[in-house]
Amino acid sequence: MKRVIAIDGPSGAGKSTVARILAERLGFRYLDTGALYRAVALYLRRKGADEGTDDERIGRLLEGLVLEFSDGRVLVNGEDVSEAIRSPEIGHYSSVFSARRPVRAFLLEIQRRFPERHDTVAEGRDMTTVVFPGAWRKFYLDASLQERARRRYRQLRDRGITMEQAWRDVRERDERDSGRALAPLRRAPDAVYIDTTSRDIEETVEKMLEFL
Ligand code: DC
Repeated sequence: MKRVIAIDGPSGAGKSTVARILAERLGFRYLDTGALYRAVALYLRRKGADEGTDDERIGRLLEGLVLEFSDGRVLVNGEDVSEAIRSPEIGHYSSVFSARRPVRAFLLEIQRRFPERHDTVAEGRDMTTVVFPGAWRKFYLDASLQERARRRYRQLRDRGITMEQAWRDVRERDERDSGRALAPLRRAPDAVYIDTTSRDIEETVEKMLEFL
């Protein structure tokens, strides 16, 4: 197992941008675990699954999924879905399906295999608590709800989202990601806490580098 920098935090805290830059500067690989949950959601939606589908059926559907992640691209049974997983609908369902046991079990293995050969910056909701509790360095990135909603709005306004929807989206996602029984978003006691509300990306990266 190589070195892992594990980063958790709520949606919109800046994890992906910061993780990508950190990985580039340090020569580590970047593991975007949200993209894996999104790809699973896309696949399950295409198979007709929704909130009402039971775990057994989800588990059976996952037997037909080969998921690959490399160089920042996500492949579902060989098809590059890196753009398709960014829609608000898939954002919603990734959060819904991420609460399901077969989905978390399926992705746990894939995530843990990633740093076997490469130093890794891994980012998500349960990196510091469940997937890599023994990570080399641990961070928890946070920002106010208002600031995270504003970031989401800027990211998705081209797709027609309103500020009100962005706000509701982020709040609902927070509740689901933190309130679920399995691997909920939690701040690990040994993770360095960084509030990014009034820090830009560069300042956040600089701050993190101080702890390496
Ligand atoms: O970071 P993101 O918005 O792309 O993640 C999409 C959803 O996936 C998020 O709402 C919760 C889920 N997720 C998770 O449960 N565990 C992770 N390690 C990463 C994401």
